[in-house]
Amino acid sequence: MSKRDVIIACDFSSKEQTLTFLDKFTGRKPFVKIGMELFYAEGPEIVRTIKARGHRIFLDLKLHDIPNTVKKAMSVLRNLDVDMTNVHAAGTVDMMRAAIEGLTREDGTRPLLIAVTQLTSTSEERMQKELLIGASINDTIVKYAENAKLAGLDGVVCSPLEAAMVKDACGKEFMTVTPGVRFADGDVGDQVRVTTPERAKEIGSDFIVVGRPITAAADPVAAYERCMREFAE
Ligand code: C5P
Repeated sequence: MSKRDVIIACDFSSKEQTLTFLDKFTGRKPFVKIGMELFYAEGPEIVRTIKARGHRIFLDLKLHDIPNTVKKAMSVLRNLDVDMTNVHAAGTVDMMRAAIEGLTREDGTRPLLIAVTQLTSTSEERMQKELLIGASINDTIVKYAENAKLAGLDGVVCSPLEAAMVKDACGKEFMTVTPGVRFADGDVGDQVRVTTPERAKEIGSDFIVVGRPITAAADPVAAYERCMREFAE
């Protein structure tokens, strides 16, 4: 898989809305992210439908359960032929190893597997007060990324602003997939720690996940092409 790509977060609640949106892309077929909302609304068939249209797919279901359950769930997901999927690193190294086992097909191939470290919605204060994690949020993110690497995963989801420290700790080859991206002249919306596609490229993100700056744009294809120009080319 080529390094650096833009993944469009297809945060829609129905197949109709999603396919109407994807119909606009008559040139190159973007890499798309299918999250819980669309997957729970439409089931696995939506993955097969979008795959059959020639898109690469990041299935963002963030699995987090006991190792045996995650392994079995992953052995179902591997048949959907997605290109990337994920788990919570908080499930421990054993759980992440079980996820890889479940995800690996009989011929030895598997989708890329990445881990969520700390959700960007979790502040350091809440992590310390509610979860009783005494370390700093940055140390926690780096430790979770190191655990993911130890378990054999391909990378982590993190804020673009955290990508550099993850690369420092885990090496350049360890992938960072980063949401929270906005155009320099665009709306920030509810995201807090944001950066531009150009800056994400400089910091060292491998994939940026972009939702509303593309899905809510007057011309989504032009917005996608702009992201590709600024980040991937
Ligand atoms: O619309 P926007 O560009 O903010 O969408 C970002 C996407 O990335 C959404 O699907 C959101 O759920 C996801 N995401 C995120 N922050 C994380 C993990 C995932 O924004 N830490």
